[in-house]
Amino acid sequence: MTPFYLLLFLVFLNIATSESKLTVDYYKKTCPGLQDIIRQVVTDKQIASSTTASATLRLFFHDCMVNGCDASVLISSNSFNTAERDAEINLSLPGDGFEVVTRAKTALELQCPGVVSCADILALAARDLVTMVGGPYYNVRLGRKDGFISKASEAEAALAKPTMPLNQIISIFQSRGLSPQEMVALSGAHTIGFTHCKEFSQRLFNFSKKSDYDPTLYPKYAEGLRKLCENYTKDPTMSAFNDVMTPNKFDNMYYQNLQKGLGLLASDQAMAVDKRTKPYVDLYAANQTAFFQAFARAIEKVSVYQVKTGSKGEVRHRCDAFNSLKT
Ligand code: HEM
Ligand SMILES: *[C@@H]1O[C@H](CO)[C@@H](O)[C@H](O)[C@H]1NC(C)=O
Ligand SMILES: *[C@@H]1O[C@H](CO)[C@@H](O)[C@H](O)[C@H]1NC(C)=O
Ligand SMILES: *[C@@H]1O[C@H](CO)[C@@H](O)[C@H](O)[C@H]1NC(C)=O
Ligand SMILES: *[C@@H]1O[C@H](CO)[C@@H](O)[C@H](O)[C@H]1NC(C)=O
Repeated sequence: MTPFYLLLFLVFLNIATSESKLTVDYYKKTCPGLQDIIRQVVTDKQIASSTTASATLRLFFHDCMVNGCDASVLISSNSFNTAERDAEINLSLPGDGFEVVTRAKTALELQCPGVVSCADILALAARDLVTMVGGPYYNVRLGRKDGFISKASEAEAALAKPTMPLNQIISIFQSRGLSPQEMVALSGAHTIGFTHCKEFSQRLFNFSKKSDYDPTLYPKYAEGLRKLCENYTKDPTMSAFNDVMTPNKFDNMYYQNLQKGLGLLASDQAMAVDKRTKPYVDLYAANQTAFFQAFARAIEKVSVYQVKTGSKGEVRHRCDAFNSLKT
């Protein structure tokens, strides 16, 4: 073998082994109460604050896309380092997601100190919350270690923005081994949660010479959004539900909305038109079972993306800080 192929082989072997070290019963002996504790914490939190599910799911997705699922997104910035969560693109990643992880970590440190990684807590919490708001249950293999790096600059480069052309978004997903079909299935996450006006305002005001707003929007919907967002520059907290019909339920309504011009983000709406993605939008709009199966498979794939095992990571004492100070 030439050195190049040998290197490729070793890289492949390394990826294959770190994933295969993960198992659903990784903490069976070391923390048997894990699943019950997480379920209890997320249930209490979701009941107290209904935005927890969407906040946590988005947080988990962002964690995985930037440097793999290693809780890098949970690290707080300090005077030496602007961490991933403070990237401009965090768009105020809502506090509920961070808080549910902190609560679970606190409860777990009492029962099984120093055992469960923050990356695993986030993965489990996201799954339990998806299921709790009506979405599919899927297996979460465990054994992720928490990473040693968290940089805002890496988040900017790794995450798609709603104003990007679909080509660019497709290639961002493809660079992580996710097909256009998987991208469409994962974007079904926008069946819950909300978005700040700034992210879709270009569709609402001064859209073009011919039209004030994006003509692919259903007119009454555009009108409602223009009213909702009329003061968004003064009040940047103004936001709209991602799924205007069933905002808090994890279902396939997101795809049905896209077919009617009720998609909020330009990137979502584009998926309903482009010939590489439209067939899947139509499939999932017609068949929720097909959507749930595809979402579960795709998010399981995301959830083992570039995971760190063994000495490649650590089990943090607290989720917002590395165990030893990094400069
Ligand atoms: C296809 C590319 C994607 C783009 C461009 C995108 C963009 C966005 C934007 C701009 C927001 C609003 C953030 C805010 O204003 O606070 C948002 C919200 C959200 N995104 Fe995505 N997203 C994408 C894919 C995904 C995927 C794959 C997932 C998860 C599997 C996801 C989960 C969420 C969730 C749950 C919310 C709601 C957050 C909340 O309510 O706090 N997104 N997304
Ligand atoms: C997101 O980043 C901004 C700075 O760009 C920061 O002010 C804000 O606190 C961050 N949000 C969270 C939840 O960390
Ligand atoms: C739209 O354009 C007009 C003039 O071209 C300007 O006065 C107005 O402030 C713009 N509105 C927004 C929301 O940008
Ligand atoms: C926008 O601001 C105006 C003037 O302060 C106010 O009358 C109106 O209700 C505001 N709109 C929204 C949606 O908050
Ligand atoms: C919906 O999708 C599921 C899973 O792919 C499939 O088994 C089922 O036959 C589909 N239902 C319809 C009505 O096509």
